[in-house]
Amino acid sequence: MEVIAGKPSEEVLDYLLRRRSVKVQDICAPGPSKVELDRILTAAARVPDHGKLFPFHFMVFEGEAREEVGALIAESYIKDNPEAREDQVQAERERFMRAPTIVGVISRLRPGKHPLWEQLMTAGAAAQNFSLAAHASGYGVVWLSEWYSYHDDVKAGLGLDERDHIAGFMFLGSIKDAPEERDRPDMEKIVTHWRKGMALNNGDHYDREKFNIPKNKGFSA
Ligand SMILES: Cc1cc2nc3c(=O)[nH]c(=O)nc-3n(C[C@H](O)[C@H](O)[C@H](O)COP(=O)(O)O)c2cc1C
Repeated sequence: MEVIAGKPSEEVLDYLLRRRSVKVQDICAPGPSKVELDRILTAAARVPDHGKLFPFHFMVFEGEAREEVGALIAESYIKDNPEAREDQVQAERERFMRAPTIVGVISRLRPGKHPLWEQLMTAGAAAQNFSLAAHASGYGVVWLSEWYSYHDDVKAGLGLDERDHIAGFMFLGSIKDAPEERDRPDMEKIVTHWRKGMALNNGDHYDREKFNIPKNKGFSA
């Protein structure tokens, strides 16, 4: 395959400069066809990946599989909230009914010398590539984690184990209502043209106790 690097594209740039997630309640059927979804997934998998480890996996939920995951989420919710009202449980049961197609992006850690932190970032890159490819295919998409991505029973029910982190679930489909702009960072505050003495943390005092900073740099084994 002929690859591309450094090919000017105003269209791609314009997309990146104006891209927006949609609200999950503004997603509706139809979702992508199989051919479209395969293409989106192939684009998503084309990410920088130190060591060619492919430390990610895509889980596609369509049709009845969404109801089964809903039941799993509701079951875990009841376990943690035995006093929950039926309408609350029902809302949990319907979480995966909010889009015709949902793709879980799973970070699966691979053993070896490559830092776990880098492997996690590669999964994040795959999720963002997925989002961009979905948009460019004409669909709305939003990347959600919500509480159940961190629930051990839900993870086990999906067939995941301790190597796995859910980067997020990509909810996608047609768009009911176009999104509006949201706040974006002040570029002056987040870009530094570095020179000596201009470190990122100049004057940025922080309370160390409020952070749960891993001691193990790179989270390597
Ligand atoms: C890892 C990750 C998890 C997220 N989880 C949620 C979530 O559970 N609920 C939510 O409202 N937004 C969540 N978001 C934020 C939305 O995906 C989205 O980025 C945000 O609404 C901003 O929209 P934008 O993509 O148009 O900038 C998450 C984003 C990331 C990167």
